[in-house]
Amino acid sequence: MTNDSSELSALQQQAKIRQQIEAAITHQFAAEDAGLKYALTTAKQAGLPAIQISPIQGKLLQLLAVSCNAQKILEIGSLGGYSGIWLARALPPNGRLITLEINPSHARLARDTFTRAGVSDRAEVRVGKALDLLPELEDEVPFDLVFIDADKTPYPQYLEWALRLTRPGSIIVSDNCIRSGKAFEEPADEGMAGIVEYNKRIASDPRLMSLLLAMDDDYTDGFAISVVKH
Ligand code: SAH
Ligand code: DHB
Ligand code: MG
Repeated sequence: MTNDSSELSALQQQAKIRQQIEAAITHQFAAEDAGLKYALTTAKQAGLPAIQISPIQGKLLQLLAVSCNAQKILEIGSLGGYSGIWLARALPPNGRLITLEINPSHARLARDTFTRAGVSDRAEVRVGKALDLLPELEDEVPFDLVFIDADKTPYPQYLEWALRLTRPGSIIVSDNCIRSGKAFEEPADEGMAGIVEYNKRIASDPRLMSLLLAMDDDYTDGFAISVVKH
């Protein structure tokens, strides 16, 4: 007589339960529509890495955007536009998402998926190195929400820019701030050093209230969420 529980170790059973819970939450609260599904399949066909946020993370970004009454959102790192679609859909009709992307073919794909998802009226992709494009945004402040999800080495610089471009009550979210716990150790490379320093700064900066939330890749990675204090 065999069944699931006799064939799976206790750890495997726990992982399976976590995955089932994530699937159920996704189904009930963060289901993907045709636009989001198109963004995923077209990115896969184009050979882009599947490193976009999860649906639950997308819904959390929307929840945060609505909670700070976001009219203007900045994203650093567009990839194929998947997270951008979630963000743009949290905006009012006259709202604006600006997303920065260094890779022109990623940017092209993001524009195409924004059009397919019906958000191209409010979502704009700017091509270039984020650190070169960020100074141009000073004319367009304040941003109500900033989502950082690009190269990891400059995360502390992205945080400085986010603080410069936001207002009290704005929300700053960064992806990949846990990294299987490597974010709490002596950094082994430049990218991890950027994340370790980012976490140190958001934990101690008196202008921010912050928390890390383990939520994707089976709770081994997740968002850093900071609110700019009043
Ligand atoms: N936010 C996306 C995933 C972004 S993946 C989503 O969840 O759907 C990271 C992206 O950042 C990649 O497309 C990469 O090309 C881009 N990127 C890397 N370094 C960058 C830089 N210096 N400036 C702007 N974009 C960068
Ligand atoms: C990588 C980058 C990401 O933003 C992510 O969410 C996962 C992986 C990477 O560069 O490997
Ligand atoms: Mg990421």
